Amino acid sequence: MGRILLLDDEPDMHENCRRILVRAGHECLVSSNPSEAIATLESAMPDLLITDLRMPSIDGLEIMRRAQELDPARPVIMLTAFATIESAVAAVKAGAFDFLAKPFTMDQLTLAAERALAQRSLIIENRNLREQLNGVFGFEKIIGSSPAVQRVIDFVRKAARSEANILILGESGTGKELIARAIHANSPRAPGAFVPVDCAALPENLLESELFGHERGAFTGAFAPKPGLLETAAGGTVFLDEIGEMPASLQVKLLRAIQEREIRRVGGTHQVRIDVRILSATNRDLRSLVHSGKFRDDLFYRLDVIDVVLPPLRERKSDIALLARHFLQQFRGADSATPRGFEPEAIAALESYHWPGNVRELQNVIERACALADGPALSVRDFPDKIRSPKPPEDPEPSCVSQSAGTELSFKQAKAKWIEELEDRYLRDILSRFRGNVSQAARAAKIDRTTFHRLLNKHRIR
Ligand SMILES: Nc1ncnc2c1ncn2[C@@H]1O[C@H](COP(=O)(O)OP(=O)(O)OP(=O)(O)O)[C@@H](O)[C@H]1O
Ligand SMILES: [Mg+2]
Repeated sequence: MGRILLLDDEPDMHENCRRILVRAGHECLVSSNPSEAIATLESAMPDLLITDLRMPSIDGLEIMRRAQELDPARPVIMLTAFATIESAVAAVKAGAFDFLAKPFTMDQLTLAAERALAQRSLIIENRNLREQLNGVFGFEKIIGSSPAVQRVIDFVRKAARSEANILILGESGTGKELIARAIHANSPRAPGAFVPVDCAALPENLLESELFGHERGAFTGAFAPKPGLLETAAGGTVFLDEIGEMPASLQVKLLRAIQEREIRRVGGTHQVRIDVRILSATNRDLRSLVHSGKFRDDLFYRLDVIDVVLPPLRERKSDIALLARHFLQQFRGADSATPRGFEPEAIAALESYHWPGNVRELQNVIERACALADGPALSVRDFPDKIRSPKPPEDPEPSCVSQSAGTELSFKQAKAKWIEELEDRYLRDILSRFRGNVSQAARAAKIDRTTFHRLLNKHRIR
């Protein structure tokens, strides 16, 4: 059973075919207008397209190209008059699953549809199996056909094979951790562990004992010796996230660990060998931290043997639709009543927004839209105001609640803006009250840590 879109410019074909396909247990959408059909491909995401090859305004091959661009696993059946059987054969060569010469019988139609749908299930099953085989974090998890992303993937694929330390740079939410996981999964160290450490999330002494471990009695509360992550990740990869936040004293220790491939636990006396590859990431301008003396240059050069720069989403607008569709598939329930695709204006709205929070922000927007939507396709109404009426990107970051009531805005817009500003100010204040300690601040705010982190990311607070 599947959802089928039938496109034919002779309306009397519609009713017959629709009845036959529905009787066979399928859901059938019909259209006699190619541009309407293209919109339906996007909004209803049918499993199978059956289209006439010759139509006055557009060629069936062009529709097929569009259908498969949106979903490469979607089979296409061409309908053709006897006279054009040669072009039908050409269509199959160009990627159509099958063709039916008019007039065809009920059985021919249902059989062709069933074979096409079975083929689709096989392709999807095969793709899932391949993904499982390649590990959860292979490069195929990185969505993006823009030249910028393809360049990054090509480069990283090669860099993964070496043992070199890699520094991953990019704004918040551009996929730095995703890339780090893909590098590990495609490196000779893949059988070993991937150990992420968020250098911004822990106060200095905890971060130190987390990374380097400690001996019994090294500090109050150190009741038992504990190996650090640099030690336990032996054979694997340590991912130092937010490396720009690493305190100066730990920068020295880390430098020594990388140079000598040895560490000493806190309170310990002997050296322990380590065997890790170090990937690090930051959304700060590390070079300027080096220039201003906040980050050691010798450590910078050790970490930055190879660097990878992830472009912000607004600089690769062609990936927005692709990512949005990917997240929709991820978040929509198995229930077929949930949205399957997007209305064309919805994609246009997503493409014209400037995405300060990059891919993570897009992911959140689609997750929210999936939860709220009640139509068959996501529409602009399912998106937050910032996307429906985008502000120009050069707006200064709100850092405190503005004094004017903003009467040039509608009440609803003004309220949304005030709430944003209030959130921002609250987060900055509570963080500075706890001197940047996220766990303590989250606890005091009575928000769980993940949500708190998400809010910090949303407001780009470090
Ligand atoms: N190209 C992509 N394809 C698919 N998913 C992506 C892509 N880029 C990012 N994501 C998803 O977006 C989210 C944010 O990515 P990630 O955590 O890797 O970003 P980040 O750069 O580490 O962000 P931050 O600086 O805020 O830590 C994740 O859920 C990730 O899976
Ligand atoms: Mg990250």
